[in-house]
Amino acid sequence: MGSNDNLKSSLMAMVESATTLSAIEEVRVHALGKKGALTDAMKGLSALSPDERKSAGQELNKIKDALTAAIEAKKQTLSMAEMSARLMEEKVDVTLPTRPEQQGRIHPISQTIDEVIAIFGEMGFSVAEGPEIEDDWYNFTALNIPEDHPARQEHDTFYLPGVGEKGRKVLRTHTSTVQVHTMLNEKPPIRIIAPGRTYRCDYDATHSPMFHQVEGLVIDKAVNMTHLRGVLTDFCRAYFGVDDLPLQFRPSYFPFTEPSAEVDIGCTRAGGEFKIGHGDDWLEILGCGMVNEKVLENCNIDPNEYQGFAFGIGIERIAMLKYGIPDLRTFYESDLRWLRHYGFSALDVPSMTGGLSR
Ligand code: PHE
Repeated sequence: MGSNDNLKSSLMAMVESATTLSAIEEVRVHALGKKGALTDAMKGLSALSPDERKSAGQELNKIKDALTAAIEAKKQTLSMAEMSARLMEEKVDVTLPTRPEQQGRIHPISQTIDEVIAIFGEMGFSVAEGPEIEDDWYNFTALNIPEDHPARQEHDTFYLPGVGEKGRKVLRTHTSTVQVHTMLNEKPPIRIIAPGRTYRCDYDATHSPMFHQVEGLVIDKAVNMTHLRGVLTDFCRAYFGVDDLPLQFRPSYFPFTEPSAEVDIGCTRAGGEFKIGHGDDWLEILGCGMVNEKVLENCNIDPNEYQGFAFGIGIERIAMLKYGIPDLRTFYESDLRWLRHYGFSALDVPSMTGGLSR
């Protein structure tokens, strides 16, 4: 069967000389495909006598097996070779410098809230939250601000359409609402701060229709004004990073606290330069007082058994003071250049000492 020997050696030679995976695939189709050379030879068997057919058939099957094995082996070798060529070519150069990565910045409002939480957290306060849309009662009446009270005008309230179970719907004008929810839902002792968004219809360099406050509330059996002084003194000194920052408690009025005070911190404005710390000037930064008995009663707490204090701090105000941001409106303009300048890296971790450690 000389013709089959020729067929075998010529196909084997083609396998041998294939140098790529696609070339070896072509050889396979050429030899073993539907119209392949070996397939043709197999078809030719039917023209032979039964005896011839048997031996020629066996011979062709052997060739087919040998060829299939050779093609498989060649494929293996070629794919190994292609893989190592690729590995050589696609080598990673670990000495290349990294591409600069755009890093986001933490907004000064978020940073300030984190710092405030860190400081009060160290003093044992936990964070409480409440809804921004409130029924009138939670924003005013429960806090001893009845319908005809002048404080309602001062709050420049946004009224919403609709009436809830406890009066007209409003956007909360202060986070003092969270005091009310907390006293209604929890039993004393209470020690919370409530940071969050608040709304008043006002807009200029120091007012924005949406702004942030942090409210504090402590209720227990023997909590008094001295504790209030201590807590706020520690807070202001830690936040502004001035260990002996002087504080002044000025008598004031809020419907929900009695007595009430406004707190000023010492500063200088000498030579046109503003500096927090020592000096003979004062700057108002927050309001506070002992929780009014009427508020305790409205929130189902017995004023003969419990008393406490509350305070409210404007987040934007203390952020502007600490970080020298002159215009409140810029907080909300989403100007990336501003954020890159005044924003914080995620690694500026707030801490008790000095508020911010870099
Ligand atoms: N809720 C007051 C305000 O927004 C601030 C405050 C809170 C004052 C608690 C005293 C006690 O103006």
